[in-house]
Amino acid sequence: MDRQILGARYTATAITLHWLIAVLLLGQFAFGLTLDDIPSGMPERGLYVNLHKSSGMLIGLLVLLRVGWRLTHRPPPLPATMPPWQRHVARWSHTILYLCMVALPLSGYLASNFSKYGIKFFNIVHLPPWGPDDRSWYLLFNQIHHLAALVLAAFVVLHVLAVLKHMLIDHDGLLLRMWPARTVRGTDFRSDLETR
Ligand code: HEM
Ligand code: HEM
Repeated sequence: MDRQILGARYTATAITLHWLIAVLLLGQFAFGLTLDDIPSGMPERGLYVNLHKSSGMLIGLLVLLRVGWRLTHRPPPLPATMPPWQRHVARWSHTILYLCMVALPLSGYLASNFSKYGIKFFNIVHLPPWGPDDRSWYLLFNQIHHLAALVLAAFVVLHVLAVLKHMLIDHDGLLLRMWPARTVRGTDFRSDLETR
C-alpha cells in the first residue's frame, strides 16, 4: 500500500464523529421506518414517535458539532491518483450527505412544532410547540423529512460503493483515511496529520 496515501488521514475527532453519527443515523433511519408500521390508533405509538423525535434531536446536536468542526478544519488532501472528475463527485456527494444530515433532524423538529403534539423529550419533558397546529406546514416539513431520508439512503449506498471501488479496484487504501488508527494492524501512523 502506498505509504504517502495512508499518511493523509482524518483527525481522531473527525473519525469519531463520522462513525458515531453513521451508526446512530442508520439506527434512527430504521427506527423511523418501523414507526410507519405502528397503527395511528395504538396508544404506544406516541411513546415511540416521541422517542424517535428525542433521539433524532440528540443526533441533530452531534451533526451540528460535526458541521462546525468540518467548517473549521480542512480534510486531508484526496489521493493524488484521483482524476479531477472524481474529486468533484466526492466533494459534491459529501456536501449532499451533510445537507441530508442537517435536513433530517431540522425538518423533523420543524414538523413537530406545527402539530399540537409538540415533542415529549424522552417521554419526560414536554416541549410545547412554538408554531400553530397547521396541517399544511406539518405536511411540508414531513415530506422534506421523508425526501431527505430517501436521498440520504441513496447517497450512503453510493458512498459505500465508492469506498469499495477505491479499496478493491484502485487499491489506494481510502478507507484507512477514515479508520481508527489503532485497529489498523501493522501500519505506522506516526506521521498522521493530527495537528492541522
Ligand atoms: C436525525 C435523523 C433522523 C432520521 C434519519 C429520521 C428518519 C426518519 C424516517 C426514515 C422516517 C420514516 C419515513 C417518513 O415517514 O418520513 C421518519 C419519520 C418521522 N420522523 Fe424522523 N428522523 C430523524 C430525526 C427526527 C427528528 C429530530 C424528529 C422530530 C423532532 C423526527 C420526527 C419524525 C416524525 C414526526 C416522523 C413521522 C412519524 C409518523 O407519523 O409515522 N425525526 N424519520
Ligand atoms: C450514514 C452513513 C454515513 C454517512 C452519513 C457518511 C458521511 C460521510 C461524509 C460526509 C464524509 C466526508 C467527510 C469530510 O471530508 O468532511 C465521509 C467520508 C468517508 N466515509 Fe462516510 N458516511 C457514512 C458511512 C460510511 C461507511 C459505511 C463507510 C465505509 C464503507 C464510510 C467510509 C468513509 C470514508 C473512507 C470516508 C473518507 C473519504 C475520503 O477520504 O475522502 N462511510 N463520510
